[in-house]
Amino acid sequence: MKIAIIGGSGKMGRWFANFLVKEGREVIITGRNQRKLLEAKQQLGNVEVATNVEAVKRADVIVVSTPIDGFEEVIKQICLYTRPEQIIIDITSIKKLPVEVMHKHIKKGVILGTHPMFGPGARDIANQNFVLTPTNKNEKALAQKVREYLETRDARVTLITPHQHDEMMSVILGLSHFIAIVSADTLVSLDKLKLMRAISGSTYKLWLTLVESVIAEDPESCASLQMNLPDGGKVKKLFQGKLETWADLVENKDRQKFVQRMKNLRNKLEKDDPDLPKAYENMYKLIAEL
Ligand SMILES: NC(=O)c1ccc[n+]([C@@H]2O[C@H](COP(=O)([O-])OP(=O)(O)OC[C@H]3O[C@@H](n4cnc5c(N)ncnc54)[C@H](OP(=O)(O)O)[C@@H]3O)[C@@H](O)[C@H]2O)c1
Repeated sequence: MKIAIIGGSGKMGRWFANFLVKEGREVIITGRNQRKLLEAKQQLGNVEVATNVEAVKRADVIVVSTPIDGFEEVIKQICLYTRPEQIIIDITSIKKLPVEVMHKHIKKGVILGTHPMFGPGARDIANQNFVLTPTNKNEKALAQKVREYLETRDARVTLITPHQHDEMMSVILGLSHFIAIVSADTLVSLDKLKLMRAISGSTYKLWLTLVESVIAEDPESCASLQMNLPDGGKVKKLFQGKLETWADLVENKDRQKFVQRMKNLRNKLEKDDPDLPKAYENMYKLIAEL
């Protein structure tokens, strides 16, 4: 089985190319910048390089690993060359728009929206989360096969609709990135980073690690994600409201309400996740290692 990775010279494309070559698959990678594409080939070893159209003509499975911006252009370019027996999978971090775009343009082949919930730094597929977003009978049958393939390799797979996926990602990626970026902005404005690092305890170190890991990501991809997640504005408004509520409690020195509200939150979180006490333990271990 030959697999074409459109955008195979990029970070995630290379990750999947490397994974698939190790799995013994024949892989073709594409990319716009020829120097970057050849460098990727050199790094990966046993892969072919081609143009998008050539790759689609030669492959059985097509994985689209290009950025959200420009996704439709890529699909428009390749849609004329897909065949009925082909599988076309995208891995973009949002799902509603890319799945709609694939439905709109790809008339031959079965499409499937997927989202690997890890970055190019991941060592292996085992224990990683994958979201699959099939929308009809053919896509559900394909998703079942992909699920079996991934689960055999110890990955964790969840099937939801593209809409549910994007709703969840507004929080999982959208809000968490947003808080990290605003935190970085706050820390930099305070202009005391060196001293804070020197005298900080484990909670600050953990927080800073999180903030720095988001800030190290590609600003263009982060911007795309923030601008394309559908419920992002609603979630951030909710967050802003909560921020004001807690700031008021502190400002007004309303100790009793602060404590009660925090206790309620802890109870709700524990009720929702019975493993929370274990999660605390793991976090303490992680903090001790920092
Ligand atoms: N990074 C993550 O942590 C992560 C995790 C899960 C999912 N994703 C998703 O994976 C996708 C790729 O992300 P990435 O981080 O790998 O981005 P990236 O490093 O910027 O790679 C994107 C690749 O797409 C290529 N490309 C862009 N337009 C193209 C076109 N018209 N034809 C052929 N190739 C084209 C780029 O080639 P040139 O550089 O030559 O233009 C580059 O090789 C995105 O949709 C992202 O949302 C990312």
